[in-house]
Amino acid sequence: MRTIELRGKDVLMIDQTLLPNELKVIRCRSAEEVARAIEGMKIRGAPALAAAAAMGLAVTALRSRARDKASLMEELERASERIAKTRPTAVNLFVGLERAMSAASDAKDVGAAKKSVASEAQRAAEEDIEVNRAIGRNGAKLLKNGDTVMTHCNAGSLATVDYGTAEGVFRAAWEAGKKIKVIARETRPLLQGARLTAWELKRDGIPVKVIVDSAAGHLMAHGQIDVVVVGADRIVANGDTANKIGTYPLALVAKEHGVPFYVAAPLSTIDMKTKSGKEIPIEFRDQEEVAVWGTKRYVPKGVEVLNPAFDVTPAKLITAIITEKGVVKPNDLKSLFVKRKN
Ligand code: MRU
Repeated sequence: MRTIELRGKDVLMIDQTLLPNELKVIRCRSAEEVARAIEGMKIRGAPALAAAAAMGLAVTALRSRARDKASLMEELERASERIAKTRPTAVNLFVGLERAMSAASDAKDVGAAKKSVASEAQRAAEEDIEVNRAIGRNGAKLLKNGDTVMTHCNAGSLATVDYGTAEGVFRAAWEAGKKIKVIARETRPLLQGARLTAWELKRDGIPVKVIVDSAAGHLMAHGQIDVVVVGADRIVANGDTANKIGTYPLALVAKEHGVPFYVAAPLSTIDMKTKSGKEIPIEFRDQEEVAVWGTKRYVPKGVEVLNPAFDVTPAKLITAIITEKGVVKPNDLKSLFVKRKN
């Protein structure tokens, strides 16, 4: 099952806010609807956001009444600006928008531009799955039979079009016959680990247990974790990596206990234009996400809540980055972009 797909003139996506209790597919018919789905976390995860962004422009193009290319480009520009405002941290969202916009601008006329945005969005979705499988193959070699691996948030099928990045590594290791066990941190405040990672690994029959985020140090101190693999929302030129809030302290604890800490991500998550982690825009989300649990409020009214959605793990805490092109040290990202002569 795909997390997101372009079908006809609509974008279909799994509503991730309802999991694990209900598996429901929702339909977006405009860039505005896609933007709201992103803001409401119905679709999330860096590579899935790239697909959503490109598909948001595809539905705009496919439903457009524009009769000339200039009017279509104006419409797409407005849609792109709207989607760009949804979430700032995952660079993939902007990559998805750029891909679709340049497909439109390269087309010879309005008809070709409409088709071209749609086919680019489809191509991006297909590529995402292939890339994740390659990340999985490369990362699976780092895991041993019997390893217990820890992860944070959800970097699985649900965070991509399919298969996942960090969870793709677990899937590939499992498919290769390695009997691994996964420890998923619940991931406060929106519980992507407890709700989504546990749900999808259980469906695949991969053993998974959930812990509260703060239990990671205890398990590592008792030698119960062999390796950590997480995803990424943006990796910058010096190897600093933004990922779900709580990743940085997890990397610190892993370092203290000599547990290898890997980041699994596609090349499209690497932003070589940004030099260091200090320059990564970090999204702050609504206070209610932390203050309210279910229907009950747990923070006294009038007390402010700080809710950063991501943190930055410095390159020095990362053992290596697993990509579709191979596994590299965080200070060697440039080698991934060197064109090989045939
Ligand atoms: O706020 P979210 O759920 O979009 O955050 C997702 C993450 O931090 C993931 O780890 C990251 O996007 C990698 S997904 C392959």
